[in-house]
Amino acid sequence: MCGIVGYVGPRECTDVLMSALSKLEYRGYDSAGIAVFDNGEIKVAKSKGRLKDLEEKMENTYKPSGHAGIGHTRWATHGEPSDINSHPHSGKRVTIVHNGIIENYKKLKDFLVSQGREFQSETDTEVVAQLLDYYYDGNPLDTIIKVMSEVRGSFALGIVFSDFRDVVYAVRRESPLIVGVGENESFIASDVPAILKYTKDYYLLEHDEIARLDMDGVKFYDKHKKEIIKEIKTADWDMDAAEKGGYEHFMLKEIYEQPTAIKTTISPRITDGLPNLEECGITPEKLREFNQIYVVACGTAMHAGLVGKYVIEKLARVPVTVDIASEFRYREPLVSDRDLVIVISQSGETADSLAAMRLAKELGAQTLAIVNAKGSSIAREADMLIYTHAGPEIAVASTKAYMVQIAVMYLLAFELALAVDAIDETECRRLTGLLQKTPDYIEEILKNKEDTQYIASSLITADSLLYIGRGLDYALSMEGSLKLKEISYIHSESYAAGELKHGTISLISDGMPVIAVATQKALFEKTVSNIKEVKARGAKVIMVCRDDYTPEKDVADYKFGLPDIDDIIMPMAAVVPLQLIAYYTSVLKGNDVDKPRNLAKSVTVE
Ligand code: G6P
Repeated sequence: MCGIVGYVGPRECTDVLMSALSKLEYRGYDSAGIAVFDNGEIKVAKSKGRLKDLEEKMENTYKPSGHAGIGHTRWATHGEPSDINSHPHSGKRVTIVHNGIIENYKKLKDFLVSQGREFQSETDTEVVAQLLDYYYDGNPLDTIIKVMSEVRGSFALGIVFSDFRDVVYAVRRESPLIVGVGENESFIASDVPAILKYTKDYYLLEHDEIARLDMDGVKFYDKHKKEIIKEIKTADWDMDAAEKGGYEHFMLKEIYEQPTAIKTTISPRITDGLPNLEECGITPEKLREFNQIYVVACGTAMHAGLVGKYVIEKLARVPVTVDIASEFRYREPLVSDRDLVIVISQSGETADSLAAMRLAKELGAQTLAIVNAKGSSIAREADMLIYTHAGPEIAVASTKAYMVQIAVMYLLAFELALAVDAIDETECRRLTGLLQKTPDYIEEILKNKEDTQYIASSLITADSLLYIGRGLDYALSMEGSLKLKEISYIHSESYAAGELKHGTISLISDGMPVIAVATQKALFEKTVSNIKEVKARGAKVIMVCRDDYTPEKDVADYKFGLPDIDDIIMPMAAVVPLQLIAYYTSVLKGNDVDKPRNLAKSVTVE
């Protein structure tokens, strides 16, 4: 998962490439590089580290200047992050940037070595650069098509040929790529935010399509070299969406955007106080067709699925299995044509989630995608689709995308419960009304950031901590724990509160922080008993519970108080302090909150 960009036009290309790359750093940021036609010659600058390291290196050595070029920000897959492994990679007359994985790179490399070719890097990308060079006969299009027929795997490529001055080629298979168009200029990018500063108009490159960008505009070709006419799209995100807007980090901005994101996501799907997902292909008749539901996703999106499971099973009494996408693919799941498989994904490009969805389709199941990125692969391939309207999520640690994924799961649960007569219309209306009120509750909670800052300050010296809860609180604990791990680098685990005493309680030592989520009234006393068990063994307990509960000394050391909301809808409010605690812990530790080490936002490899 890397970010690629390209530019052809009157502006200073290096500046455009660097600015566009800065919007894609969420896709990977262990190295970066550019290649620019500088006085007719391709000049490459690349460096291990962040974009600022590349900028510094160029200031200290040479900064290419020109009007056409390509750029890259990397998340290493083949070969460690280093100057040499950074993109662009070149053959003699071809230079490329690549996002994706070349599956047969070893075989191709062996072939090229047998032909006397020498390699500088350990990357699969250099193999493509060399292969393009090997076949290059003066006709870029023919060469690209030939190489596409030999290469297996996923790729989005930006390509420049040294004897085609100021021309950029782009091609994609699986990995996403858009082609932006402005006045007398054109762009390529892995994602829309990269070009929003310059234009909102773009084309979505489909599988095995090729784009040719020059000073006269853009042309598209299929893999048979036939020119194709594509439909132009206009991004409905404005530039502010991809800027920090006064917040110190994107993550904080995105946490504060949650109330609006919920409203924008649910409002168009509610008619006369009841959920209405008809526009997404979901009707009560359709919902009655399914015997059971699978939710398949990765990371935070999978945690949204867990909340959905509790809510659907509780309200609709339809069985739901939540699967980690990378497990689902290989466990020969017992999915049938009477089942619904829901795939949740912010990016819509996560390789394991996409593959799991394809498998579900092969097995005859109907698929429903809950996706944030418009036009993404998962969105396009699913039988039914509900877009979440979170806007671009830039911070690697997901917050607002999770929130709206949950909101959609609630709408679905309510509609399903009504469709199968598990609840009546009055109850469905009541529940939908509760969901509509959640943005106000969240606004309220967001006013109290001081408490989460205080809690965070008590966590920064911890080596390890636990999150515990029961039922929906357990699902939330998992998300709280993941958030903290991702950005604070403090080890943490989430545990079902009642299960602790079967082993994990032995980890509790004097002063170890335990964050206990206890928002579910029906389970409250049981959770409090579990909290007392850890407290008695020396844990420092931070309780996230309703504000009207005042914990005794033998229960908790500190409390984050939540408004008194109905149990079922509580997770939407209760996750907010968990997000803020993770955020402030990371800030206090001086970490790079938006770009945590080793992670990438969109994981397009298995
Ligand atoms: C990566 C991100 C996570 C995200 C997961 C699934 O691991 O770092 O934040 O939850 O992928 O991504 P998706 O785009 O499918 O929701």
